[in-house]
Amino acid sequence: MSELPPTAGIGLRAPHVRAVRDDRPPIGWLEVHSENYFADGGPALASLDRIAASYPLSLHGVGLALGSVAPLDREHLRKLARLVDRMQPASVSEHLCWGAFGGRHFNDLLPLPFTAEALDHVCVRVAEIQDVLRRPILVENVSTYATFPESDIPEADFVAAVAARSGCGLLLDVNNVHVNARNHGVDAEAYIATLPIDRVREIHLAGFDDSGPIVIDTHGAHVAPPVWALYEAALARFGAVPTLIEWDTDIPPLGVLLDEAARAQALLDRCAADRASVRAAACDTAAA
Ligand SMILES: [Fe+2]
Repeated sequence: MSELPPTAGIGLRAPHVRAVRDDRPPIGWLEVHSENYFADGGPALASLDRIAASYPLSLHGVGLALGSVAPLDREHLRKLARLVDRMQPASVSEHLCWGAFGGRHFNDLLPLPFTAEALDHVCVRVAEIQDVLRRPILVENVSTYATFPESDIPEADFVAAVAARSGCGLLLDVNNVHVNARNHGVDAEAYIATLPIDRVREIHLAGFDDSGPIVIDTHGAHVAPPVWALYEAALARFGAVPTLIEWDTDIPPLGVLLDEAARAQALLDRCAADRASVRAAACDTAAA
């Protein structure tokens, strides 16, 4: 099973599919929303076949509802497994949230209570999904606008425990950490420092709306300066991790996304160079 390269990628959205498919701009890798390709066939899937022949691909799901108490949607999982078999993606990821109840699916990534009971539940579901897909998935921390009084585990510890117990990897959304830190008064750098170094396999960067009483994760703006700063802290801890620019609303021209990815790539390059010089210095010391 191949892995994502430790470079910058972009989320591939409908307005850019044709340009990416036909012009093949220099991007490290691409991420798509799995559910957009659940059809039996058709032009969207055919385009993705061509794109996947040229770029490493990440399938990022929004509908498996890892934390829902409703039974796991077997039909949804079957369609995902079929897409995974077809595309052989470098990565498959989902969100640490719930989103279905009483036969209804909600269009939101809803927050979980961070309790031992919820942790047990999520870990069972992640293990079940990984068994069906026959591969580890990445689980992403989400932005939230409410917390539960029942929560007695810090979010970062909860996320780390999901990885430790289920064997999944982590998709660290740095913007979501910043948004939650602002909304709930959490220490963002301490959050990053809590996550296990060897489990963070992908990073997301995105923009938010700061115009109201709380910060809203819109994926509709440039990555903000404090998120870039937090990203540098994440690279210092986790090394050069595949990094995605997510932009889902008010989608700009492709060139804007490529410029944003280039900024991430420059930081990834610096991180890799710093680590290489530390290793070289350690070898010199050992040889002396
Ligand atoms: Fe994300």
